[in-house]
Amino acid sequence: MKTILVTGGAGFIGSHTCFCLLEKGSNVVILDSYINSYPKSIDRVLKINRSKERKYGKIIRYLGDVRDTKILITIFNDALDSGNMIDGVIHFAGLKSVNQSITHKELYKDVNIRGTKTLIKVMREFNCKKLVFSSSATIYGNSDYSPLKEDFELNPINPYGETKLAVEELLEDVFYKDLKTWSIANLRYFNPIGAHQSGLIGDSPKEFNKNIFPLILDVCIGNLNRIQIFGGDWPTKDGTPVRDYVHVMDIAEGHICVLEYLFENQQQFFSMNLGTGEGTSVLELISIFEDVNKVKIPYVFSERRKGDLASLVADNSFALSKIDWKPKRDLRKMCKDGWNWKLLNPDGFS
Ligand code: NAD
Ligand code: WQD
Repeated sequence: MKTILVTGGAGFIGSHTCFCLLEKGSNVVILDSYINSYPKSIDRVLKINRSKERKYGKIIRYLGDVRDTKILITIFNDALDSGNMIDGVIHFAGLKSVNQSITHKELYKDVNIRGTKTLIKVMREFNCKKLVFSSSATIYGNSDYSPLKEDFELNPINPYGETKLAVEELLEDVFYKDLKTWSIANLRYFNPIGAHQSGLIGDSPKEFNKNIFPLILDVCIGNLNRIQIFGGDWPTKDGTPVRDYVHVMDIAEGHICVLEYLFENQQQFFSMNLGTGEGTSVLELISIFEDVNKVKIPYVFSERRKGDLASLVADNSFALSKIDWKPKRDLRKMCKDGWNWKLLNPDGFS
């Protein structure tokens, strides 16, 4: 049985991944400051877990900041003392708002870059050298080409994306400077949406989320009057921007497959897209959501959003060929599970 440290494990993607880790029989150690999440998400992960017949691993949680060397050392020491040393780390902890990163650039650097440096230092001290890092498709920036392949030019257009690229570069450095003794995967997520089908866990940020899917849910539940579509004159199939929406459970399962790959293969460093490879426009997303959930989503067209891109779709062939993974849930399932979560938890965990 493996023991995995999950930084940011109470968050949206983290909580779904913790659930999958438990299902695989791993022990999960969570470090989270709850700056953008609630401890309740972990209670809910345990609740889903308890409802299953099979016996699973256990969760140990720590409240703390990934920039704090002391708490990290305590976590690794506690694990050693209990006889379950930490075998690998999934590093979700970080700040992710594009807008906030423009007004709080230094904070984003500090949390996302220094946080990762601190983690690496402690992992090295405890000879724990398997790491999966949450990167983002945003690091491709303004590419003329879609679908996006991992070896395309990286050119983030916002401070948030710059921190993700800086961490990818930092980790590559670590890999070569430590003579290829690490196994490191950067996972570049596209647009994760949806929720676990139980409706017990889902996206519940403290920072108001201005992404399209949570806004659709807000309109639907009655918190917002309508969606503003940022531009109808993009060079796309219907004039609205195209994205690669991917079910959060598929993203979570991707982490399990990548970890298994890292444990079973020799040390290596790679970056990998996690997306479906299918592009959906804003109008298509709204229309599918309406059809699946039998609701109406009013919308108006407005100006283009600064820094937006026409199309961001993954070429996921590297993931499909390298790890034992493929996305299993289509856009209809994403819309159904997302709405189920919202209906059952109109205020999230707050
Ligand atoms: P989230 O905000 O729900 O989860 C992040 C978690 O990290 C939260 O629980 C938060 O409280 C915690 N955290 C933040 N700073 C911390 C710190 N200094 N110390 C300890 N804990 C801290 O976000 P998410 O959507 O689950 O994203 C997880 C990761 O994936 C992030 O690194 C994000 O940048 C990346 N990512 C997300 C998306 C997306 O669309 N959701 C896309 C690409 C990449
Ligand atoms: C999707 C589409 C908008 C809101 C962001 C981050 C990225 C990653 C995923 C973390 C776009 C349109 C949106 C609205 C709209 N996160 N839209 N009206 O921008 O693709 O990616 O989340 O790493 O880094 O940038 O996602 O959901 O904001 O936008 O018309 O009110 O919806 O123009 O085409 P985005 P999004």
